[in-house]
Amino acid sequence: MTKKLVLLISGRGSNLQSILRACQTGQIADAEIAAVISNRAEAPGLMMAQAAGIPTEVTDHRDFPSRAEFDTALQQQVDRYAPDLVVLAGFMRQLTDTFVEHYLGRLVNIHPSLLPAFPGLHTHARAIAQGVCWHGASVHFVIPELDAGPVIIQAAVPVHTDDDPARLAARVLAAEHEIYPRALNAVLSGWCSLKEGRVIWSTPVPSCADTAINPVITR
Ligand code: GAR
Repeated sequence: MTKKLVLLISGRGSNLQSILRACQTGQIADAEIAAVISNRAEAPGLMMAQAAGIPTEVTDHRDFPSRAEFDTALQQQVDRYAPDLVVLAGFMRQLTDTFVEHYLGRLVNIHPSLLPAFPGLHTHARAIAQGVCWHGASVHFVIPELDAGPVIIQAAVPVHTDDDPARLAARVLAAEHEIYPRALNAVLSGWCSLKEGRVIWSTPVPSCADTAINPVITR
């Protein structure tokens, strides 16, 4: 049966686009994006979704007096689509424990760093300021603690000596577009799941490339 994804976004939507393409080409097998929900009406990703015929909704966090009330409304909206997986794709809101626990094991996020390094914001500028040689992106199951959930897949990219945050962000973003579809396919196929706070891979692991810190993107 076709698996249903609900994507939560706040902005540009390039990860949404790569996930949509992966659903259309079968890289993510037997899955469709049931809805895209944004907390910002002006998010460019909404127009991209509409152009592809995907239902979109907006729940603006500024319309709610508290984080808890916003998350309750968001949860009701998401649940209407009965998703197999809720996918944070550049959703720039911290979620309450109640929301996260409701979807535990069915809620994934992509973060632009090699977690546990650089949780939070401004990861590319912080990586350059720290002088690290490698930076990257991580797909992880979401747990209540911010950017601390068990990692499913990571991709590493080199930090060049003449990088500025924008150049480094572009290199990391290309890696994000490689790994998010692979991670979603692994979770939806049942190859990988969250059990007792850890990522468990089925035996035999379908491909070592699904668990390695890969791909290294150098351009
Ligand atoms: C991506 O770089 C994603 O990793 C990041 O927001 C960007 C969204 O881009 N997410 C976070 O920082 C979450 N903490 P996109 O809208 O083009 O997919």
